[in-house]
Amino acid sequence: MPAPIQTLTTVAEARAFVASERAAGRRIALVPTMGALHEGHLALVRAAREHADTVIASVFVNPMQFGPHEDLERYPRSPEADTAQLVVLGAEAVFMPEVAEMYPDGRSATVVTAGHLGTVLEGRSRPGHFDGVLTVVTKLLSIVQPDVAVFGEKDAQQLFLVRRMVRDLNLPLEIVSVPTVRERDGLAMSSRNALLTAGERQDALALSRALEAAGAAADRGVEAMLAAAQAVFQADSGVQLDYLAVVDPATFAPASDDHHGSAQVLVAARVGAVRLIDNAVVTLP
Ligand code: PAF
Repeated sequence: MPAPIQTLTTVAEARAFVASERAAGRRIALVPTMGALHEGHLALVRAAREHADTVIASVFVNPMQFGPHEDLERYPRSPEADTAQLVVLGAEAVFMPEVAEMYPDGRSATVVTAGHLGTVLEGRSRPGHFDGVLTVVTKLLSIVQPDVAVFGEKDAQQLFLVRRMVRDLNLPLEIVSVPTVRERDGLAMSSRNALLTAGERQDALALSRALEAAGAAADRGVEAMLAAAQAVFQADSGVQLDYLAVVDPATFAPASDDHHGSAQVLVAARVGAVRLIDNAVVTLP
């Protein structure tokens, strides 16, 4: 029989729950999510359990990280199913605030900015996105004050920026990352996959195939990797490539053609009306 889960909807409730867990000497992990939980999120919750006694997942579709023409309204929401999955995994609490609870003034006048790296790659296609992410993550960290927070590696730029923010602002917690969970055919799990038609679901495999093609070309340098990945998209007319890049994972700056060692291939593409991202780390000899 799974243990009951605490459903927290207000900041005051979350703070009171955290205070009682702390008073009992428990280490706390936060798993920030936007809900519509899938295996990728569940892996985050399992990882959180390895690092803490009390696991709190947040489920909040953050309007501040969506642009005016993005999919905020369409973004999948399934709070009951999310809670049921968290119960099965034994999470102690889920924090599910309403928008008005997180943004009582309608919007936050104070914003955590991601700087230049917030304006490239994902940030170039989604202006303001990372400021919205960093602001809500800061709010969640400030509400829950966890010892550890767990993020997925699929959102590579988000993970990089969150880690940098924690370092820059001396936030007193550890960030743990968890590898991307994939479907059997290679498609990276994403809440947005639920919005794909069957045909688009097939087309979406172009992203993971492009990463594989780039990886297979790694011994020929960065330009060859990009060309190999690009060729996958040229062959697949159902997918509109947004960007393809190889970056140095230490800085997130573009990797030069003679880059050696670890490199991260990043891809974003539109499949029908759905925008998907994926990435892979490869080693250049
Ligand atoms: O990765 C996500 O689901 C979101 O960007 C996050 C970190 C929960 C902030 O809203």
